[in-house]
Amino acid sequence: MSTSRRVALRPDEPTDPRVERVAGDEDAGVSTVWRVRSLGAARQLLRARHATTQAGFTAEAIPQGYLRHHPILVSDGPQHDEQRRKVARFFAPTVVAERYTTQMEDCADRLLGAADARGGCRLDELALLYTVEVTAEVVGLTESSVPRMARRLESFFRQPPFDITRRDLGRKPREWARAAVNGLVPVARFWWADVRPAVRSRRRRPRQDVVSHLLAEGYSGTGILVECVTYGTAGMVTTREFVVMAAWHLLRDEALLERYLVAEEVERLAILHEVIRLEPVVGHLYRRAQVAVPVSDGGHEWTVEPGDLVDICVRSANADPEAVGADPLDLCPGRALPPGVNAAGLAFGDGEHRCPGQPLALLESDVLLRRLLARRPQIVREPDLGWDHLIEGYWLRGLHLTW
Ligand code: HEM
Repeated sequence: MSTSRRVALRPDEPTDPRVERVAGDEDAGVSTVWRVRSLGAARQLLRARHATTQAGFTAEAIPQGYLRHHPILVSDGPQHDEQRRKVARFFAPTVVAERYTTQMEDCADRLLGAADARGGCRLDELALLYTVEVTAEVVGLTESSVPRMARRLESFFRQPPFDITRRDLGRKPREWARAAVNGLVPVARFWWADVRPAVRSRRRRPRQDVVSHLLAEGYSGTGILVECVTYGTAGMVTTREFVVMAAWHLLRDEALLERYLVAEEVERLAILHEVIRLEPVVGHLYRRAQVAVPVSDGGHEWTVEPGDLVDICVRSANADPEAVGADPLDLCPGRALPPGVNAAGLAFGDGEHRCPGQPLALLESDVLLRRLLARRPQIVREPDLGWDHLIEGYWLRGLHLTW
């Protein structure tokens, strides 16, 4: 009997076949979709260099012709390689640890100190303030109020549902209008309140952060805004969900909690990697094939044709027993993995768009969780779990802790 300790379960989500082709109808604007649940096949597709383009996060509906610099998330090919090479220096593990550990510790101590006075906290709220403040420092959005910026970032996610397999995303004109308002109003607020003051201050005095780097590269205000939206949503909001999920797992498993509290950093990070493998925050990654891409799994071979949509089903791929071994839905930190398989599975993607923020996300989560869990909190209220359209991942709200 295999054990399942995954809590973010979607009952409506098929777990097989490992590679599935769902024929589309181009005349009706419906793409042929490859649902990929095998971790090996998923990696082949994500690593097919310059053969696919970003199709997730409604990227294909974002007008970008007027931007001089393509946004990192939707840019592809050699230009994207160059962008990634340049921002890598802000996110390398040693840089992150040396430059930001003290700031993370101070921020965690301050927020938890205020919670001490109240005898507890609502962790999803505290984690949002923490992840926004930490990421804002790295990105360079330091001229505005963190709680207000956090609210603005959260509002980006209030999008009407969409069907990624349809060229028009399956939205009616009224829903497009709502999507535009829901999207553009928060972006405009984010520009005026957070990005514009940060840009102005860095024009006068550049610092060691992403906004200063983009200014030096000649990005326009709009170009910088688009990148800040990416870092804000890709970096802050995802890490917040992960912190809550990791705390929830650790508080439900006394033996694991005791290990985490006494372990050295390497073992603590192994525990966090295993939690995010089991509970990936981003549930699906999408790519559009631009050329024919061969893919194989278990002796079968297929060709993804140009124009086809690839749906990497991260939750299934991360629980693929051929890649992560027996009991794929159990939580086994340090589980034996074959060479080349990341301990987080595909939770941070793979290939050209692989998350640059993985070391930052794990380090900042560890800094907060250690301090929080050392207070031996008790769960007063379990969180509600829901699903987000944009990242096709879970959200957890209302985890009340007391100590
Ligand atoms: C637990 C937290 C996080 C998770 C689960 C996560 C997940 C991901 C995933 C899955 C991708 C790949 C998207 C794709 O291939 O289509 C990605 C990309 C990205 N992430 Fe993260 N991320 C996290 C934290 C961060 C942080 C802290 C930052 C930086 C402040 C960050 C910045 C980015 C950026 C800029 C990209 C786009 C990279 C590109 O397209 O080349 N992420 N993230």
